[in-house]
Amino acid sequence: MPLQGILFDLDGVLCSTDEYHYRAWKELADSISVPFDRTVNERLRGISRMDSLEIILEKSAKTYTPEEKRALADRKNARYRELLQNLSPKDADPDVVSTLLTLRKRGLRLCVASSSKNARFILDRLALTSYFDGVCDGTQITRAKPDPEVFLTAAAMLSLPPESCLVVEDAVAGAQAAHAGGFLAACVGDASKKRAGDYNLAGLPDLLPICDRLQRGGTT
Ligand code: BG6
Ligand code: MG
Repeated sequence: MPLQGILFDLDGVLCSTDEYHYRAWKELADSISVPFDRTVNERLRGISRMDSLEIILEKSAKTYTPEEKRALADRKNARYRELLQNLSPKDADPDVVSTLLTLRKRGLRLCVASSSKNARFILDRLALTSYFDGVCDGTQITRAKPDPEVFLTAAAMLSLPPESCLVVEDAVAGAQAAHAGGFLAACVGDASKKRAGDYNLAGLPDLLPICDRLQRGGTT
């Protein structure tokens, strides 16, 4: 089936907010004396805030009650939101903007599919919202990646079947979610390095020739 829609993850694909997630988790982990580094951080890509906290607390000597965990997750999010205040339209990557524009001009429908409850806020700060026909974020799903719910919901927003959509991800959990939902996955960043996608890209503009072939019904 020819390509008709593209479902974009947000953090680490459309913007570098993955770095802010890292900084906010690192500050929290340091404050409770739990070892946390970039290797552990790779395991947090794509998964929900509470699932991320559970991974961080694997190395904690102390056991936390559900209320204490909620408070820790809230603290991390408050710090993350503080860091997000720095974002402005100037921080939108020109390569990302020109790729989105070209894909739209070719008649493809675009949707954001992110686990983040902050996705709409980030898209607004970067002035990227208007490039998309829909946004499915962490407030609209109950099961986090690698469950395919976010991508199936996003495809339904575009009224397209999974076979006609391509998912773009930087997280291995996201590529797994795409495959579980019957989507092809194009990966950037960490997931690309780990060859988790059907297409493993050096950057977002590499999508253009791939989408051109898929739109004309090709498979490679
Ligand atoms: C994903 C990130 O996009 O969103 C994860 O890759 C993050 O690292 C998840 O945990 C949830 O984000 P938020 O903004 O709702 O805490
Ligand atoms: Mg991501």
